[in-house]
Amino acid sequence: MTESVYIHIPFCRQKCKYCSFVSFAHPEFIEKYIEALEKEIKYFYKGERLKTLYIGGGTPSLLTAKQLEKILTLLNFDSKTEVTMELNPEHLTEDYLKEIKNLSINRLSIGCQSFDGRILEEIGRKHSPQDVENAVKFAFEAGFENVSLDFIYGLPNQTIESFTSDLKHAKELGVQHISLYGLKIEEGCYFYNHPPKNIADEDLQADMYLKAIETLSDFEHYEISNFAQEGFYSRHNLNYWNNTHYYGFGTAAHGYENNTRYSNQTNLKAYLSDPLKKFEHSLTAQERLEEEIFLGFRRKSGVNFGLINKKFNINFEQKYSKILDKYISSGHLERTEYGCKLTVKGILVSNMILSEFLD
Ligand SMILES: C[S@@+](CC[C@H](N)C(=O)[O-])C[C@H]1O[C@@H](n2cnc3c(N)ncnc32)[C@H](O)[C@@H]1O
Ligand code: SF4
Repeated sequence: MTESVYIHIPFCRQKCKYCSFVSFAHPEFIEKYIEALEKEIKYFYKGERLKTLYIGGGTPSLLTAKQLEKILTLLNFDSKTEVTMELNPEHLTEDYLKEIKNLSINRLSIGCQSFDGRILEEIGRKHSPQDVENAVKFAFEAGFENVSLDFIYGLPNQTIESFTSDLKHAKELGVQHISLYGLKIEEGCYFYNHPPKNIADEDLQADMYLKAIETLSDFEHYEISNFAQEGFYSRHNLNYWNNTHYYGFGTAAHGYENNTRYSNQTNLKAYLSDPLKKFEHSLTAQERLEEEIFLGFRRKSGVNFGLINKKFNINFEQKYSKILDKYISSGHLERTEYGCKLTVKGILVSNMILSEFLD
């Protein structure tokens, strides 16, 4: 049974200079895109009552409430479902937030990135710090009780001090959840071909991350990149990290069902002409185990030996005893009541540690 849905809305007003996500500055295709989404959802979705629904992007807030409603009516969910929507702070009005609240959207994830206006300009964001403050204020006034802000650290000319003050400001605004991402410059974004000056090196990024953990010590650091007040974990994302099944709808969306990972076409026109096409990869038991380990170690709770042994019919501690012993004695891993997790020192070099679990 698949009880989670991700829907990708691949439109943005303009591309931010650091962003390689699949999104297009072509809002003129939105109507056609909704038709294609309807076709895809009607074909694949089996009508399960959803536990979580996530509308991500791109910029889902480019859609009108009517357009969103058209998509949402295809899905079976109720007031217990966590329904998240990603928003860009610019051009948000209180009326729009009230309209989407009436559609039963109950969690908002707003892209802030930084509260420093000069940095926002340098990275190609089209909003001001004030726009973010207004977006959060309007969200609370519209009745949302679960609001998250995204930040990037390691941005051009960003200092540990300015990043720390951003996080303190986020807390002052009263948000329940904060996501932090280290700047990554990947092929396809403007910065890849025009590298910015004064960006943080790996060491400074690590220092910023450590400072963030300290600054957000009154939040629960429940996943490598995510911090929340008690009871405000992202249930949808926990679902990914718990390696459970979900549908993925829309251009470039990924899904996971029946031990098969699939992805949709990334080219917008190709998706519009054939929204039912999926590229599938059926996972071997070893691949599933490795994914379980990778995703499990992202969580604060880490890997649960009993659960993983039962699921894969293995003895985890025996199979990986060398790696576990090595990294527990070096302080990169630590035992928990039910298994093992990364320490903060381990998180900083998690790629290296996790690669050792690969067959
Ligand atoms: C899928 S994006 C969509 C958010 C929304 N469109 C916005 O920008 O306001 C989710 C988040 O990923 C992060 N992100 C995007 N590109 C990134 C990059 N190159 N490096 C680090 N974080 C990035 C940003 O914090 C962004 O808010
Ligand atoms: S960061 Fe968000 S708004 Fe900027 S291009 Fe990427 S998806 Fe669009």
